Amino acid sequence: MCENSVWELKGCVGMSTTKEKHALVTGGAGFIGSHLVDDLINDGFKVTVLDALLPQVHADGDNDADGWPKYLNPKAIRIRGDVVESGLVANILEGGITHLVHMAASVGVGQSATDPYLYTQNNDLGAAVIMEALNNTQRHSLQRMVVASSMSIYGEGAYVAPGGQLQDRVRERTMEQLKSRQWEVTDSAGNPYSPVPTTENKVLEPASIYALGKYVHERMFLVHGKARGIPTVALRLFNAYGSRQALSNPYTGVCAIFIGRLLNDQAPMVNEDGEQKRDFVHVKDVTDAFMHAITSDFDIWDAFNVGSGEAITVNRVARVLAEKLHKNIAPEITNKYRIGDIRHCFASVDKMRRVFGWSPKRCFEDGMPELIDWVRKAPKPVDRTLQMRAAQAMAGVVV
Ligand SMILES: NC(=O)c1ccc[n+]([C@@H]2O[C@H](COP(=O)([O-])OP(=O)(O)OC[C@H]3O[C@@H](n4cnc5c(N)ncnc54)[C@H](O)[C@@H]3O)[C@@H](O)[C@H]2O)c1
Repeated sequence: MCENSVWELKGCVGMSTTKEKHALVTGGAGFIGSHLVDDLINDGFKVTVLDALLPQVHADGDNDADGWPKYLNPKAIRIRGDVVESGLVANILEGGITHLVHMAASVGVGQSATDPYLYTQNNDLGAAVIMEALNNTQRHSLQRMVVASSMSIYGEGAYVAPGGQLQDRVRERTMEQLKSRQWEVTDSAGNPYSPVPTTENKVLEPASIYALGKYVHERMFLVHGKARGIPTVALRLFNAYGSRQALSNPYTGVCAIFIGRLLNDQAPMVNEDGEQKRDFVHVKDVTDAFMHAITSDFDIWDAFNVGSGEAITVNRVARVLAEKLHKNIAPEITNKYRIGDIRHCFASVDKMRRVFGWSPKRCFEDGMPELIDWVRKAPKPVDRTLQMRAAQAMAGVVV
């Protein structure tokens, strides 16, 4: 079993032949990464997974004796290790990796406000360590990279003003406004703007430490990938949902968090009034977008939205999940604002469609059966929502 030691893992990974496609997926034991590993293996890739198996994500899951989630494809080569460990990624790349997908990250807008050091170290530094590994171009045969970016880098989504003009940059909601529970984005006279699909041209205004880290991921990969002549794509993921998302991790995944509450007969806790709109995209549509980006053969250094294109409110998500789980439980509207949250953001996926010929195949209701089937077989989640909210209240992150 390969664990941590560079020498062991070199022996295990082995050298790939020149024609072989060999993908390294960092964070490949996680929710999105593990689905992508399946798709890559089905497409004929040899796959190596590098994952630190963060306890927050994996401790309460259904794991084997070595701590790996049982859902992880048995054909994947497993390396338990941390991307911030200098030299580790370089050694793996030298084992004949042709395609690199960087998924490993700490994932959570609210948690990044209470743990900015941890998020900066794991996400920003993690990307920097990978960039250093790319420097020795003679010793690796990398052909293409894809990095998981996030819709959070936009800050607020795009809006139109009452007169119909597109607003690429809107006035941030003031603390005074939020404390008086006026949630909508408005002009300075208080006239509400209407949200519209956000395109990649929108001005980037990351509003949390997590979002800043994702911006760093995206820019580091695109800038450094171009300098090294390695085609690179950043995928700005909207809210992914589906099987394998950690149900006991209170920091990430609206659907997973709500399911954790409902299965413990508790109401999903909704920030603000629950009428904020997001774009929920099924994990299989997300991994399909990754596959389009990884298997394309044109020279490209660019960022793309990956969403469903459908705007739905957080209240509706809570209600649909309750219905599917046969729980007669209404969401609890907290009327609280969490620092780093934006009001509305949902995707225009035209660019991804135009350039890669990808489009999402499932609307929110279509993606439910896959998620609910898995939830019924998964261990009962531990509900940590109240602990998480108490920590955020203590840190002054919720007002
Ligand atoms: N899930 C979403 O809705 C969403 C939305 C936007 C962007 N993203 C991005 O997609 C990627 C995958 O997200 P996910 O939802 O699958 O998260 P996840 O938490 O399920 O998976 C992340 C995996 O990375 C591993 N990991 C974390 N830090 C690591 C490190 N330093 N070294 C090695 N492994 C490490 C974890 O153990 C975990 O297995 C992340 O980069 C995230 O920022 C996700």
